[in-house]
Amino acid sequence: MGHIALHYQRPEDGPIAAKLLQLLGFVETQDLPLPGGHFYRFVVDQRHQARGDGILYLSAAPEAQVALVQAIRTALKVGTPEEHPAAAGMRAALEADPETTFHVGFLIDSLETLERTVLGVREQAQTDPDLKGRVRVKLNRARRGDGDVDARLDASPLYGDVDRYAYGRNGVQAFIETDLLTSGPLGESLVIELDYVFPGATSHLLSVVEL
Ligand SMILES: [Fe+2]
Repeated sequence: MGHIALHYQRPEDGPIAAKLLQLLGFVETQDLPLPGGHFYRFVVDQRHQARGDGILYLSAAPEAQVALVQAIRTALKVGTPEEHPAAAGMRAALEADPETTFHVGFLIDSLETLERTVLGVREQAQTDPDLKGRVRVKLNRARRGDGDVDARLDASPLYGDVDRYAYGRNGVQAFIETDLLTSGPLGESLVIELDYVFPGATSHLLSVVEL
């Protein structure tokens, strides 16, 4: 795949969103200050520095989009006691399943890297005033059934006490939801998904969906 374009809603959120992408392991290759807010280019790893794929662009949401989202929020009285019930319904759906609407997934080739990255983000989200209250983490472990996978995840510093399960086997998911990035019908947040698939399995959560 080539690139994705992510947006933050308020100019002051730009540098904090960029900090979060760095914490998630993405490599910043450009930071261009523009009148409406910084424009950033990230790549998934150093090898993609000069390539045309593996790119994440991060910039301020365009004025027209901010205006539209604001008009929708005003019309639905979002955040007020008279809020339209559909807004709460959408939030509840996302709470139950972080994959319920648009989100972006990245495959990580090492479970240790994924564990270290997500533990680090979770820690920073509690201690860094910039990130406090802006990041939520949800975790899905592999469906049970493979002894080696189950034992590895039982012993995991990240997944050991997780009781949510993926729609598939032989892999794990970590969902990082942040309101530093705007998406969805109300522009409230974006979910970034980090996945790991255990090697050698032909049936895993990214190859076969199981209900
Ligand atoms: Fe997903």
